Amino acid sequence: MDAFASEQPPVRHILSSSQFDRAFLDYLYTLTTTIRRFDKSREGLNYLRSLLPHKRAMLYFTQPSTRTFLSFQSACHILGITASEIRDASTSSERKGESVEDSLRTFSSYVDLIIMRSPIARLCERIATMLDETPRPVPIINAGSGPDEHPTQALLDIYTLARSLREMGGIEGKTICMVGDLKRGRTVRSLARLLTNYDGVKILFASPPSFRIADDLRQDLSASRFDFEETTDFAGAIAAADAIYMTRIQDEYEGDNAGAQDYHRYHLRAEHLPMLKADCAILHPLPRRDELDPRIDQDPRAKYWRQERNGMWVRVALLTILFGIDDRVQLPDL
Ligand code: NCD
Repeated sequence: MDAFASEQPPVRHILSSSQFDRAFLDYLYTLTTTIRRFDKSREGLNYLRSLLPHKRAMLYFTQPSTRTFLSFQSACHILGITASEIRDASTSSERKGESVEDSLRTFSSYVDLIIMRSPIARLCERIATMLDETPRPVPIINAGSGPDEHPTQALLDIYTLARSLREMGGIEGKTICMVGDLKRGRTVRSLARLLTNYDGVKILFASPPSFRIADDLRQDLSASRFDFEETTDFAGAIAAADAIYMTRIQDEYEGDNAGAQDYHRYHLRAEHLPMLKADCAILHPLPRRDELDPRIDQDPRAKYWRQERNGMWVRVALLTILFGIDDRVQLPDL
């Protein structure tokens, strides 16, 4: 496998799913699958841990997180990176009135990478631009920026989709149904944008009318002549889908929750399983509430637990690219 880094400009920050093209995605997924082979032996894992023990990362998560936090922390540990964390701005000097910019500049004095989740849309871009003008321009990874973007989730979603649809010829030409709070769901926004890299894909956005996708996403998808449809016909959409991406209501954000009383009509229940295509992949970024019936967990089409684990390995691969050591994890067999 050719090292991507030698052909393309190195990846500095991970801020938005719009920054990735198809060549990068293909490279990242091959790299991820290669790295997973190191997990098969003690020697392999020891080797991975020997790669970045001289690096430190800060996990700055001022919004709740289970999977994204733990998978990034685990990804750091797998590569030997020391990870420190702030999980609540009220325990940092922001409580004393320090600006978020000053707080993050302070972290950059101590670490080589900042992975951040915050309720503020586009904060990551602001911080990355600010740090780029300082003598310590440490890379920023956006691990969720308010209702705006969650690019690494989209990267792991596509990896899971590609693996799940492998025997059906991959993602190209497939119909993907996204369900839920499409207006405020950042994973939906990042994933929809990333899917424009695959030819012939159609997205069916199924939601109550008040949870339809936001205007900017609609305009971007239309401008790129991407095939999509917005519908309230949940049953029709899931029956036509090669993959279903369920999401929960994002009611931690301000805004209209008026569609919430209709939401139960967009729940995927075990009773729906006979309507789905035989090979349909069911994904969910998790956490779930009632929109995804736990009785579906046993069905072979349920891919969300795998999706969770895939996330850790995609993040390991991203870290190797970010630190420029991806050429050291291309070993054939261990
Ligand atoms: C998502 C998030 O935080 O945006 N979860 C995740 O990162 N795995 C989705 C959600 O919270 O609904």
